[in-house]
Amino acid sequence: MNVLILGANGELGPHVVRALEHRHQLRLTDINDLETQHEYFRADAADLDQVVAAAEGMDVIINLSVLRKDRRLAFDVNARGCYNMMTAAVEHGIRRVVNTGPFYVVAGPTYERFDHMIGPDVPHQPGTYLYALTKSLGQEICRVFTESHDIHVMDLLFYMLLDPETHNVESGSPIANVGHDLVPYTISWRDAAEAIRCALYVEMDKLPSRSEVFFVFPDLPHQKFSSEKARRLLGWEPKDQLDQFWKKAKL
Ligand SMILES: NC(=O)c1ccc[n+]([C@@H]2O[C@H](COP(=O)([O-])OP(=O)(O)OC[C@H]3O[C@@H](n4cnc5c(N)ncnc54)[C@H](O)[C@@H]3O)[C@@H](O)[C@H]2O)c1
Repeated sequence: MNVLILGANGELGPHVVRALEHRHQLRLTDINDLETQHEYFRADAADLDQVVAAAEGMDVIINLSVLRKDRRLAFDVNARGCYNMMTAAVEHGIRRVVNTGPFYVVAGPTYERFDHMIGPDVPHQPGTYLYALTKSLGQEICRVFTESHDIHVMDLLFYMLLDPETHNVESGSPIANVGHDLVPYTISWRDAAEAIRCALYVEMDKLPSRSEVFFVFPDLPHQKFSSEKARRLLGWEPKDQLDQFWKKAKL
């Protein structure tokens, strides 16, 4: 397949490239420069013309772009970027879109008091945190497009991504409290990338709707969240169970 990746030059991007590069033709895009053997050019997710141009000839769009802090830019990238991506999909007849974000796009602060088997199809309550809210708007924009266009959007939600070997979380900082505690929603980089790879193979017409949201993370003993849907519909199985993190160290 010809696969366009928006925001390919971030932390998750290289893992997704590794998971896809042997079987797919990749077109990587981001706002900055990237040394790569794959086709690469700059494309601003917030710029409709650039996204439409980037999507020409593609079969799939994967959106890894994100801007977490600045109010205007967060809206432009996380929400408007989805509008641009879906417009590009319509324009080029692309039927498969994989969008990404953090779990609190769905299960924001109001879910903190609920503590068992929260799935991705609960009523979405992102709260007012800029990152969650703008990503949630983006997800809703994608969903609305699927009501009137034959496009399937799979929204894959992650949280604390880490490397089980080095114990590093994003930006290379070591994870705190190894053997003592773990954020109740954690996944390895390679398993997150593998879920995105699985989304390229899903038989779309077998999905319950053209807009489906997935929580993606391994089984964690407290079972606060459920990734059952990702396993069932994406056919994804995590390789890294992360038990070295949640098993308590002997004192
Ligand atoms: N890293 C995590 O722990 C984490 C946790 C939860 C969810 N996610 C989700 O995973 C996806 C990838 O995250 P990441 O960790 O790679 O983020 P990142 O911040 O490392 O990378 C994001 C990329 O988006 C690019 N970008 C920013 N503005 C852009 C624009 N206008 N146009 C195009 N690209 C732009 C950045 O240059 C960067 O390369 C995101 O959807 C994010 O919400 C990541």
